[in-house]
Amino acid sequence: LQHVGANIIECAPGKDCRADRAQRFKRLGQQGVTLWFTGLSGAGKTTITEALERELIFKHGKTVYRIDGDNLRTGLTRDLGFSPSDRGESVRRASETAALFADAGVITMVTLISPYREARNAARSLHRDKGLPFLETYLDVPLDVLRRRDPKGLYKKVDAGEIKGFTGVDAPYEEPLDPEVTLRTHELSVQECVDHVIRQLEARGLLS
Ligand code: PPS
Ligand code: ADP
Ligand code: MG
Repeated sequence: LQHVGANIIECAPGKDCRADRAQRFKRLGQQGVTLWFTGLSGAGKTTITEALERELIFKHGKTVYRIDGDNLRTGLTRDLGFSPSDRGESVRRASETAALFADAGVITMVTLISPYREARNAARSLHRDKGLPFLETYLDVPLDVLRRRDPKGLYKKVDAGEIKGFTGVDAPYEEPLDPEVTLRTHELSVQECVDHVIRQLEARGLLS
């Protein structure tokens, strides 16, 4: 038992819990992992993970769940905006949620811009402390390509002065310093991006 705050006593996962989890994963036929996709709007977070989800389900027979910033903002984070502290809080909630899914054995994909290094590192630490694998995947695309893609017309709105504090334009994005995976999505097809992530999962024994 571990004291974590006023009258809250966590039943900390000990060695037995970890062994138990390995047994559960074996029975389930898969191991939980969080794939954390970070990058600017239009970088390809949603497109790649939708394709990856299909491939993991239909080719590999896995159970997968996607946690997308846009969708989260209609529910779990609907009280949050785009100030630095609100973005930090939305990343914190997404990472806690992802850790629950990964703990249950699900291949969990988080797709949030998640512009702050500290918040992403906190998500990584949370997973490490719980013994859950975590792969930060950075979608590295130049801003001028994103402006040309503009899949939702948001950059156009930014230029028209209709959105303020847009990441990469007038709000910061801190590039990952040491991501497990980097995808330059302007140089690769969607399928090539999917293949790359699958290979990374296989190399870590997470798809066997
Ligand atoms: S964050 O920074 O992690 O909290 O952002 P996230 O929860 O992923 O939400 C990003 C989506 O919100 C839309 N949007 C904005 N993005 C960036 N800056 C501002 N000001 C903004 N306002 C709205 C946009 O559709 C983002 O989705 P993606 O999929 O990245 O385009
Ligand atoms: P995000 O969720 O990061 O905002 P989206 O997935 O909504 O990004 O948009 C990415 C856009 O870029 C889509 O219009 C998609 O068709 C296009 N695109 C071109 N090449 C790629 C690629 N290799 N990976 C992902 N998206 C790509
Ligand atoms: Mg998206």
